[in-house]
Amino acid sequence: MKISFLLICLLVLTVTRDCTSERCDDWGEDTRKLTQAYDGEPVRLRCPLFEDYLKHNYSTAHSAGLTLMWYWTGKGKDLEEPINIRLPDNRISKDKDILWFRPALLNDTGNYTCMLRNTTFCLKIAFPFEVLKKDADSCVSINKAAEVVIFPLQDTALLTCPDTTGYYPTDVTPTVNWYMNCILVDGFVDRDPKGLSLQFINVLQKYEGNYTCIVSYDENGRPYNLTRTIYVKTIASHLQARPPVMITPNDKQTFEFIAGGELHIPCEVYFSYVNNSYTDIGWRINGKSEGDFTDQRVLVNESVTLDMGNPGAKTIKKELRIKNITPDELKHNYTCTAKNTLGVVSRQALVKEKVGTPRYITELACGLGATLFLVVCFVIVYHVYWLEMVLFYRAHFGTDETIGDGKEYDVYVSYARNAEEEEFVLVTLRGVLENEFGYKLCIFDRDSLPGGIITDETLSFIKKSRRLLVVISPSYVHQGTQALLEFKAGLDNMALQGNIQLILVEFKSVKNKEKVKELKLAQSVLSVIKWKGEKSKYPGGRFWKQLHVALPVKNTSSAKNSCSFHMIPQNLEFETEFSNNVTT
Ligand SMILES: *[C@@H]1O[C@H](CO)[C@@H](O)[C@H](O)[C@H]1NC(C)=O
Ligand SMILES: *[C@@H]1O[C@H](CO)[C@@H](O)[C@H](O)[C@H]1NC(C)=O
Ligand SMILES: *[C@@H]1O[C@H](CO)[C@@H](O)[C@H](O)[C@H]1NC(C)=O
Ligand SMILES: *[C@@H]1O[C@H](CO)[C@@H](O)[C@H](O)[C@H]1NC(C)=O
Ligand SMILES: *[C@@H]1O[C@H](CO)[C@@H](O)[C@H](O)[C@H]1NC(C)=O
Ligand SMILES: *[C@@H]1O[C@H](CO)[C@@H](O)[C@H](O)[C@H]1NC(C)=O
Ligand SMILES: *[C@@H]1O[C@H](CO)[C@@H](O)[C@H](O)[C@H]1NC(C)=O
Ligand SMILES: *[C@@H]1O[C@H](CO)[C@@H](O)[C@H](O)[C@H]1NC(C)=O
Ligand SMILES: *[C@@H]1O[C@H](CO)[C@@H](O)[C@H](O)[C@H]1NC(C)=O
Repeated sequence: MKISFLLICLLVLTVTRDCTSERCDDWGEDTRKLTQAYDGEPVRLRCPLFEDYLKHNYSTAHSAGLTLMWYWTGKGKDLEEPINIRLPDNRISKDKDILWFRPALLNDTGNYTCMLRNTTFCLKIAFPFEVLKKDADSCVSINKAAEVVIFPLQDTALLTCPDTTGYYPTDVTPTVNWYMNCILVDGFVDRDPKGLSLQFINVLQKYEGNYTCIVSYDENGRPYNLTRTIYVKTIASHLQARPPVMITPNDKQTFEFIAGGELHIPCEVYFSYVNNSYTDIGWRINGKSEGDFTDQRVLVNESVTLDMGNPGAKTIKKELRIKNITPDELKHNYTCTAKNTLGVVSRQALVKEKVGTPRYITELACGLGATLFLVVCFVIVYHVYWLEMVLFYRAHFGTDETIGDGKEYDVYVSYARNAEEEEFVLVTLRGVLENEFGYKLCIFDRDSLPGGIITDETLSFIKKSRRLLVVISPSYVHQGTQALLEFKAGLDNMALQGNIQLILVEFKSVKNKEKVKELKLAQSVLSVIKWKGEKSKYPGGRFWKQLHVALPVKNTSSAKNSCSFHMIPQNLEFETEFSNNVTT
């Protein structure tokens, strides 16, 4: 009887036990609820059932007759077992919905389960717990996730060491040390530790980093540490919060595409940081938004660039691409719209069809090239042959300026009475000008006349001449006052009456031209024809062409008539001898 009763009892117990364990509502493992702690530090694990999942808190559940039980599965084990709460010094203890570790050790790592039950009701949940060792030479372990707080720039902020309340009695004042990236905050600029808080006086971007607080206190004669790390992230000041700014499309840029090619328009928008704001950007084609684009040729691509100098701010670029664009589609309305909580900006891209530009450019380039080539050729021809061209023109179309001007001579030659110059004038000049070109020269040779007196005769000869040819040489400036007076008379005549023109022929270069003001002046105004010795002797040469151009236009008549008369007979002989030489 007794045995059967015991058996029945056993049976009932096993059945109820099996039933209850089978009926337990297992919510599985909540891996999001990972708790991490450092080896040797106090930790509390709160049963998640009372945090987010239950309508009731622990005290109401407890008073309803429900009991909370803890189990754990050690790391690398697969057997769930009860937690030993009878360890020395009460290292692990239960307090309402909390499981305390004073302190937690490395081999406490595992999966923990809390179960709430009465005879008819059972509910359980599991969560992981990880105990870590601090990294060598560090105040933290890089494997422990840090909480993130966001501080606006140029603002004051207060950083509070999290999750410390309840660890020690309220009358205990713990020692708190603050570290930035594991360097003790001591005399830091703008950051002031005040117990459990770290005061930021002016938040700057460079203050971003891992801030660690280590709270030390004694409990029951044993020292304990609490290590907490917060990652401080900076964000642009709310003073800089703006509606979006559209960079492209804009009113200035026109997009040109060839029909049949690819249309490609970027929409670039700058979004400043706005707390709790969305950043929307989208294309519309003829009012149709991106979600309604069905054409396979249409592609939209987005890329984001962060503003390094302004944390939280970014530029979003959304590119619209359409392959094989048709001329009709190029007339469509392509509008980009950007939005945040502070405003909306919308702009239509200026799109145009590009027509035949490449051919047009080649033609233009060819035309320009040809024109340039012709201009260069013309300039070269002009520089090399201009004398010939002028002479040719004069010979064929020039009007004889000697007819009816009442003048007798073509050229009056003024020169220094010096053996060398005399030979040049009487033989070379006269030979070519009279015999080749058919001009009538007047060479008034009066060396014997007393210097400084210019006779009426000389003046009247100059007046009767069309050109005054001045042969410049050092002797011309120095000695021959006669020559200089002829020169001055000619200059006056030219300046006052304009009926004689001066031709300057530099026979030999003069160094101190300053001596004769008039000569210097004349040289600066008139062009000088330079005699280059032997090189200039050939009658078809440049010297003679230049001289010919300066001489009057005249129909060639070989009337050889000279005004020269010589007071010294030897000169006459000399001259005849040489002019014969030239003519032969
Ligand atoms: C639990 O609930 C009771 C009443 O429902 C309330 O008085 C008590 O403060 C709650 N406790 C906690 C820790 O929320
Ligand atoms: C955990 O490790 C400690 C030594 O660090 C040891 O005393 C203790 O027994 C271990 N606990 C278990 C459950 O293995
Ligand atoms: C906890 O359980 C999950 C599976 O439920 C397992 O993947 C994980 O490794 C366990 N964690 C530990 C520390 O044993
Ligand atoms: C067990 O708890 C549930 C939920 O609170 C309750 O509905 C039920 O009546 C309880 N059962 C007993 C036997 O107390
Ligand atoms: C902050 O700590 C995390 C690990 O918790 C690490 O990855 C990161 O590099 C640290 N940042 C700085 C600025 O030290
Ligand atoms: C507490 O942390 C300090 C370093 O901040 C260390 O020197 C000390 O040994 C730690 N104490 C315990 C009990 O871990
Ligand atoms: C952002 O706004 C939320 C409320 O919407 C506020 O709690 C938070 O402090 C603000 N953050 C900053 C950095 O201003
Ligand atoms: C183009 O479309 C936008 C909206 O999609 C509209 O606001 C705008 O007026 C249109 N422009 C023209 C020229 O029709
Ligand atoms: C989108 O843009 C990214 C980078 O800008 C580029 O690597 C990718 O190929 C683009 N995709 C398309 C479909 O154009």
